Amino acid sequence: MKITIAKSLDDFYKQSAERIASKIIEKPKSIIGLSTGRTTGGIHKALVELYREKPFDTSQVTVFGLDEVTNISRECKASCYWLLLNQVVEPLGIPLSNFIMPDPFAKDLQRECRKFEDRVSNDNASDLQMLGIGENGHIGFNQPGTPFGSTTWISYLDDSLDERLRRENNIAPDVKMGGLTLGIKNIMWSKKIVLVASGKNKADIIEKALFGPVSEDVPASVLQLHPDCEAILDPEAAQQIVKHL
Ligand code: F6R
Repeated sequence: MKITIAKSLDDFYKQSAERIASKIIEKPKSIIGLSTGRTTGGIHKALVELYREKPFDTSQVTVFGLDEVTNISRECKASCYWLLLNQVVEPLGIPLSNFIMPDPFAKDLQRECRKFEDRVSNDNASDLQMLGIGENGHIGFNQPGTPFGSTTWISYLDDSLDERLRRENNIAPDVKMGGLTLGIKNIMWSKKIVLVASGKNKADIIEKALFGPVSEDVPASVLQLHPDCEAILDPEAAQQIVKHL
């Protein structure tokens, strides 16, 4: 795995954003998988800045988010659809028809999983998959213990995310949210993966994921086996791995 340690948080956002922009410039018809959260929010902001400084053709690119919170509407700010629409799709002028997300209210969620995966994995494997990482090593909503052979499925949000989304978005306690996510096998089919992490709260898990044993207890550790994966880290997230380099 290639490891890039940025000089600062701003440099981290910029370098991560450049990976997305470069892929679109190199292959305008790319399929690009994104993820949401605090880390990628900063990256998306940097991507929009890059685009505004030096616009590039976004008319043919397809983007998707690798996961979605089920049972909340797309208008809710906790929805991955809402976040990606506002952070990336609209600012970059990507046609809405090229923005693929699962339906959070699909009657048959299992069927929705298969439909989503057929559009963005398997024969349509992404050219680039951007991945954040949870403090417990989750990627997408694939929590610790998820089999490496998993395909798209309905997982759960970890307690801290569930609590934060409810608090920030006034989601009632009786709304049961799930995490529809590409499985680990789908993620590994991506042609290129960029794992991004910032902040000292990620330092411990970054060391485990990048230098610990490859284990289903740490879902992100599977990325050690991917032939084209880069980890981009800010100095704080990298503080425990410097000794391994
Ligand atoms: C969400 C997703 C999650 C996040 C992870 C890190 O679409 O894929 O796996 O990437 O929870 O989130 P932050 O950046 O908020 O720490």
